[in-house]
Amino acid sequence: MRFTLNVDHVATLRNARGETQPDPVTAALIAEQAGVDGIVFHLREDRRHINERDVRLLRELVTTKLDFEMAAVPEIIKIACDVGPELATLVPEKRQELTTEGGLNVIDNTALIKETIEELHNADIDVSIFTEPDIPQIDASAEAGADYIEIHTGVFANALTEEEQFDELERIRGGAKHAKKLGLGVNAGHGLNYQNIKIFRELEDIDEVSIGHAIIARAVVVGIDQAVKEMIRLIRS
Ligand code: PXP
Repeated sequence: MRFTLNVDHVATLRNARGETQPDPVTAALIAEQAGVDGIVFHLREDRRHINERDVRLLRELVTTKLDFEMAAVPEIIKIACDVGPELATLVPEKRQELTTEGGLNVIDNTALIKETIEELHNADIDVSIFTEPDIPQIDASAEAGADYIEIHTGVFANALTEEEQFDELERIRGGAKHAKKLGLGVNAGHGLNYQNIKIFRELEDIDEVSIGHAIIARAVVVGIDQAVKEMIRLIRS
């Protein structure tokens, strides 16, 4: 299982005071040195954390893999095509939300998603779709031309009982297996942390996890290098 780090929250902390520190680009480079397999960022329409300067520098300096999370809107699609990340992950975006709240509804937005995927493919960018572990949505993602899905793990992460957590894990397992049969790569993320990764890492069809908040929160206390290495140790043990 590969592990990519989302650096949005480094930028959230920087922007809280309108300062230049901490710098998400510096954090990304330290994380690469510590062994992450890629760097993720979400350029939001409201620019609440990552901004164009970050995107430009991340593209210039990141050597592992860049995953550009984005809404399927013309302004951001154009920036993604100009920047050329290895992967673009399409996510739903609402201005009022604190963070991405769930998977994209591909079934109800097929034409838009298909068109967006074509545009990104024309710029040589692979495309992933953030989705619930829901078979019809996964089928719709494959039909729209996606190369990967990223399964939303928020329900699993927020489960209040062991039974609820187990049920959701089985739903994710089934969704991942189904996606693999369709030839899709399978990523996963949202709410994964140093505790729940110990169960999550047992899922054999997940190629990659994308983790942000838990790592950055830990990094405030122990530093990015150690926070990343602790997670890598957990994922691989
Ligand atoms: N994957 C997607 C699509 C996300 O939107 C987020 C949150 O920005 C993450 C993964 C990472 O979630 P978390 O910060 O809870 O680890």
